[in-house]
Amino acid sequence: MDLFEYQARDLFEAHGVPVLKGIVVNTAEAAEQAAETIASPVVVVKAQVKVGGRGKAGGVKLAKTPAEAKEHADAILGMDIKGHTVAKVMIAQGATIAEEYYFSILLDRANRCHLAMCSKEGGVDIETLAKERPEALAKVPLDASVGIDEAKAKEILTQAGFETAEQEKLIPVLVKLWEVYAKEDATLVEVNPLVKIATGDIIALDGKVSLDDNSIFRHPEHAELKDLTAEDPLESKAKAAGLNYVRLNGEVGIIGNGAGLVMSTLDVVAYAGEKYGVRPANFLDIGGGASAEIMAKGLDIILGDEQVKSCLVNVFGGITACDQVAKGVIGALELLGENATKPIVVRLDGNKVAEGRQILVEANHPLVTMVETMDGAAAKAAELAAGA
Ligand SMILES: Nc1ncnc2c1ncn2[C@@H]1O[C@H](COP(=O)(O)OP(=O)(O)OP(=O)(O)O)[C@@H](O)[C@H]1O
Ligand SMILES: [Mg+2]
Repeated sequence: MDLFEYQARDLFEAHGVPVLKGIVVNTAEAAEQAAETIASPVVVVKAQVKVGGRGKAGGVKLAKTPAEAKEHADAILGMDIKGHTVAKVMIAQGATIAEEYYFSILLDRANRCHLAMCSKEGGVDIETLAKERPEALAKVPLDASVGIDEAKAKEILTQAGFETAEQEKLIPVLVKLWEVYAKEDATLVEVNPLVKIATGDIIALDGKVSLDDNSIFRHPEHAELKDLTAEDPLESKAKAAGLNYVRLNGEVGIIGNGAGLVMSTLDVVAYAGEKYGVRPANFLDIGGGASAEIMAKGLDIILGDEQVKSCLVNVFGGITACDQVAKGVIGALELLGENATKPIVVRLDGNKVAEGRQILVEANHPLVTMVETMDGAAAKAAELAAGA
């Protein structure tokens, strides 16, 4: 989960990383009020969107008076930045910037370690710097069990070319930023710019944080950080039901057991659908225990997707045998009643396949078509989705 800048700011503050005052608002009037509360000679009105390059897009503006802050907020709220509509702005205390640095910690999947990156030249496009003058960006792998202690911070700063005097000020900030990264289970903590202000103090002026969704069990407080307005309602519903569901842009709904089988089902459906111009609508893995209830929840979510025209249930019976899956499908259709209107293609194989098929034959449900092979089932589902 990616956080908004103001949420990153709050996390930084909670861990003792130096930040400036900031108040998030969603109206121009509240922006004026916030500027009055902050009461600094300059405030900065900052668009809160989860995309980079806000400044360049006109989403970061200085204001010398509360009235000016109101004007800027009025212009920035509702603005479109790279496809993201600005619903909130942060009114931040203005800093007298002496220098802008760059610092980040991230999960380097390719090298299977955590990585710190640091540069004396922050503020600008760090991607451009990394490409054009890679030597100006220090990259230091981190040992997960140590992270960034004072010695490591010194090593990073030396590699980035900082003088000893600057290092003294920066070391404690880097150590604290590691604390944010480790304690909050982040996969990214980026500060651009990390600034030196006129007094010589260091401040994190902009923050990007991504939290690892798999760590939610030890951070119930992270649930509050979720931007519910941006969630796909069907994905939220699936998550609440404990299902592994990813929505795609297509017409053939897919239910399978086991990630590998579901992925290969996506492939065969994409292939079979080429002829008709239809594509898989989702990924849904019902896992091991395909009870009638789980099947009903899965079917309910998939059939609730307006774009879906047909559904393919592709199950290889294992611990959960085919007869239980077949009962699950029929039971699900009973539970859904009139809400079930779209054709369902079922392909069963594996443990107790004969019993499972027998159950479907006997039920003789008008919406269910049974096909014995995976390719055949994909072709049938694609055909039905196309209305052919
Ligand atoms: N509180 C502040 N006081 C003074 N100047 C600021 C403040 N916040 C930002 N700035 C200036 O605006 C520039 C851009 O701000 P910021 O880094 O927050 O946005 P951005 O880099 O455009 O957005 P993104 O990081 O999403 O690409 C900074 O490099 C800094 O020069
Ligand atoms: Mg920035």
